[in-house]
Amino acid sequence: MTDTDQNAGGGYADELRDHQFDGIQEFDNHLPNWWLWTFYGACIFSLFYWLHFHVVGSGALPLAQYEQEKQEWDEKLAQLDTAVSADELVAMSKDPEVVAAGAVTWLTCAGCHAQDGGARIAGADLPGVNLTDDAWLHGGRPEQIYQTVLNGVDGTAMQAFVKTIGARKVQEVVAYMLAKVKGTNVEGGKPPQGVPEEPAPGDAGAGGEQAPGTAPSGSGN
Ligand code: HEC
Repeated sequence: MTDTDQNAGGGYADELRDHQFDGIQEFDNHLPNWWLWTFYGACIFSLFYWLHFHVVGSGALPLAQYEQEKQEWDEKLAQLDTAVSADELVAMSKDPEVVAAGAVTWLTCAGCHAQDGGARIAGADLPGVNLTDDAWLHGGRPEQIYQTVLNGVDGTAMQAFVKTIGARKVQEVVAYMLAKVKGTNVEGGKPPQGVPEEPAPGDAGAGGEQAPGTAPSGSGN
């Protein structure tokens, strides 16, 4: 097709505008219809978009959508592969490879609980609590410690580590704690906070230490 064909087929003649710059002139043609329709389409679309997201509020803007997806993901993550028994944790604490892996993660904890777990460096208190003594705010049994590290303590600096390092690393670091930190009663640590570790519910009365008849009442069922 030549230029003359195009002009004849379109039913109009190209009109030259009378200005020129550096010898360049331009035509005064209409915008092509396909282009105009995409433009009108965008205008109509924007009206519905505006109503949907900004007036009626029936659509979630990217930030709200992100928050919602993040929350769903956090919930999923919290349930993912977190189940582990106290016996399994104790077994892990006797496995040198697991304990060595936990020692690496423990560096994250040492900032608040100190490398030795005493939560005090050169007489200065760190934000965390002493993890080497016999006093526990949230329970000292392996599965209780695991839950605390997994889910954190709301409203304190102790965060839910399952969200940042995942359940496997939490298990490793708890194995490390059981092997190297718990019960070491380091000197110069923070004063005890909380209560002594209580026996697991299933163990009540089962150990030989208690005299017959002194088992806590109410544990019969
Ligand atoms: C930013 C500081 C911080 C970091 C990092 C931190 N903790 Fe804590 N942790 C705390 C605080 C504060 C508490 C006390 C929470 C409370 O008041 O109930 C705590 C409590 C605990 C408890 C409960 C102790 C009890 O008495 O029941 C355990 C177990 C624990 N942390 C383990 C860990 C482990 C393991 C890590 C590393 C993965 C870690 N923490 C990292 C600040 C921290």
